[in-house]
Amino acid sequence: MNNIIIGLQWGDEGKGKIVDYLTESSDVVIRGQGGNNAGHTVIANGTKYVLHLLPSGILWDDKLNVIGNGVVIDPIGLVQEIERIEAQGIAITPNKLLISDRAHVVLPLHKELDAAREAALGDQKIGTTKRGIGPAYADKVNRCGLRIVDFLDREFTSQQIKRRVVDANEILVRHGLQTFDADEVIAEVYAAFERLRPHVSNTIPALHTAWKSGKNLLFEGAQGTLLDIDFGTYPFVTSSNTTSGGSCTGTGLPPTAIQGVIGVCKAYTTRVGSGPFPTGDEGLSEYLHGLGREFGATTGRPRGCGWLDTVLLRFACMVNGVTGLAVTNVDGLDEYETLQICTSYDIDGEIHTLPPADRKAWDRAVPIYETLPGWKSDTTGCKNFEELPSQAKAYLARLAELCDAPIAFVGVGPDRLQTLVVG
Ligand code: GDP
Ligand code: IMO
Ligand code: MG
Repeated sequence: MNNIIIGLQWGDEGKGKIVDYLTESSDVVIRGQGGNNAGHTVIANGTKYVLHLLPSGILWDDKLNVIGNGVVIDPIGLVQEIERIEAQGIAITPNKLLISDRAHVVLPLHKELDAAREAALGDQKIGTTKRGIGPAYADKVNRCGLRIVDFLDREFTSQQIKRRVVDANEILVRHGLQTFDADEVIAEVYAAFERLRPHVSNTIPALHTAWKSGKNLLFEGAQGTLLDIDFGTYPFVTSSNTTSGGSCTGTGLPPTAIQGVIGVCKAYTTRVGSGPFPTGDEGLSEYLHGLGREFGATTGRPRGCGWLDTVLLRFACMVNGVTGLAVTNVDGLDEYETLQICTSYDIDGEIHTLPPADRKAWDRAVPIYETLPGWKSDTTGCKNFEELPSQAKAYLARLAELCDAPIAFVGVGPDRLQTLVVG
């Protein structure tokens, strides 16, 4: 059984934790899009691991992890991440991690161009992670990007980097930002590439061999559906297809290889960065931040928090073809007296059960809520679904009904073991 694990909101739904949990019964974990803008937190055996480019299956021995062709790789960032995770006692060997030779490379100048673009946008800024994701994907689509395979030809790659540095410096000077020395960039990225070289291969045949021999494959999504370049709250989105279709284009495995799509969402909603957030709620944000929760794993920024929004989730279940829901952070609502679920938006007097395309309509969307009783008890010790309080089960049942998708997993804490299997 091959499954996609995908975010249904604006990222940080707890995908990493679910992927880590499901890795035990899988053989291969594959990332197909995004870059180190992602931050996936896994807590296992009392240790916290934060993964950005490494797939969240990396903590398990004897599992293959693949960074697929659709990912944009910052080689310097990836080497730092590998060293950090190795220092936590996890060996990362070439038979455990493969890196696609077709993946595009994020250069240091892409990060600076990301910052320049954000500065130029002023109060219209996207609130990116400044990891160079947009500029790297722009180069890919503009057909001037560098791929991992290009690094095998140092002369060609050096020439390309020199050209890119000249172009980038022109822009950076205009913004009063740091410019680059081409030789330094070449030396820096090559030093990182040499560490990665043993992991680099044509990952597509390896993935097809695994598929054809009946191995269980897990596709790990990064970001979330509302950050998708096509389906998200454009332009406040990331630069890749974060939805289930991206798992095929980003790995070279076809739709026929996939049987299930697990959509991950929180029991409430969060968003980091700019853009519309109809159910955003200051009270809930303050409450969760007060518990030390909802600070971004990549940038440390506090995430905005709000009530569960089933307009978003309904749409996300549609476009991803969700076959099962993983609802995380149910324990975040443990102390609330009453809970709100947004069932539709009122936009200029019209009821919408699906999100609008028009960015101005988003700003006028007034959430329509239904109120449910809270459970007012600690769920973090629940060992199975049956042990959840009846109000929590009713809340989850209503969520599933409004999204027309069954609940498959429930998260009641950040630890690998605080994952309940439903049904
Ligand atoms: P991802 O980007 O989708 O992998 O999610 P992040 O790791 O960025 O953010 C999810 C946050 O919620 C992390 O701090 C996780 O440790 C935490 N988390 C995940 N599931 C649960 C849960 O069920 N309960 C609690 N309390 N925390 C969770
Ligand atoms: P994971 O995989 C939450 C957001 C940024 C910004 C927008 C564009 O951990 O769920 P980018 O740097 O991609 O150009 O930023 O997307 N963003 C995320 N928000 N979780 C993520 O990843 C995100 N990756 C990007 O905050 O609003
Ligand atoms: Mg995250």
